[in-house]
Amino acid sequence: MATKDWSANQYLKFEAERTRPSRDLLAQVRLQSKSPKRVVDLGCGPGNSTAVLLSQYPDARLTGMDSSLDMIQKARATLPDVEFAVDDLSTYSPGEPVDLFFSNAVFQWLPRGERLQVIKRLIESQPSGGVFAFQVPDNLTEPSHVAMRETAADGPWAETLSTAGRDSFQSPQEIYDELKPICADVDIWHTHYNHSLESHQAVVEWVKGTGLRPFIDPLSPADKESFLKAYRGRLEQLYPKSVDGRVLLRYPRLFVVTVRN
Ligand SMILES: C[S@@+](CC[C@H](N)C(=O)[O-])C[C@H]1O[C@@H](n2cnc3c(N)ncnc32)[C@H](O)[C@@H]1O
Repeated sequence: MATKDWSANQYLKFEAERTRPSRDLLAQVRLQSKSPKRVVDLGCGPGNSTAVLLSQYPDARLTGMDSSLDMIQKARATLPDVEFAVDDLSTYSPGEPVDLFFSNAVFQWLPRGERLQVIKRLIESQPSGGVFAFQVPDNLTEPSHVAMRETAADGPWAETLSTAGRDSFQSPQEIYDELKPICADVDIWHTHYNHSLESHQAVVEWVKGTGLRPFIDPLSPADKESFLKAYRGRLEQLYPKSVDGRVLLRYPRLFVVTVRN
């Protein structure tokens, strides 16, 4: 994971596109009670996914947690009546049974060996019927991300960035086999979004808020500028302009909803 803190403002440049999967995920959540008592948004970011949960469960005790202070400050300012905490998923414990753990676009940032262990530990703390729902981008083989790795390997920054990037996510089979022994149901699916963005520079701005961070955070300001220019050049080769001059960014995402047995 990159060492610098996240930027809520950079992340929110594409708020509508980033929040849509949280609605699509929540649409598949079936809780035993329509009025759950306890709901937790894991890796809540600036509170965009928390706002989706709040509108669905206005009477629940809702908590958003995130390891980024910048994100939590933004979330608190946006939703002053919701409880937010700065905490790390690797050690986080809610302290009481949770009806719904919800997590939109977060677990891909945990080391591969840790993420399903954290998910299992939290599911095991839930009462029977408790739901754990998460979504992660599944885009490491998309041109946008291949181009990041190619740019990293081709420049004066190659050595600095030799281990940059994030681990691939577990396959649906691996997720199912790991979680099914403690769950009555494990529902897994993919959705491929095709986001129409204003330009190639907009694609750069999108990934600057997330996937590009481990590549540009370690660089000096001058190298960062050169890297971004080289990266945009590759995107221009890989993504044609649409009929309206915009750029279509294909974005596959993996969704999982489990029910505790
Ligand atoms: C892509 S944002 C997702 C924000 C929001 N959930 C949404 O729906 O857009 C990922 C968030 O995960 C948080 N995060 C990454 N690793 C974390 C960890 N180990 N513990 C808690 N939060 C973490 C980051 O700080 C960031 O706010």
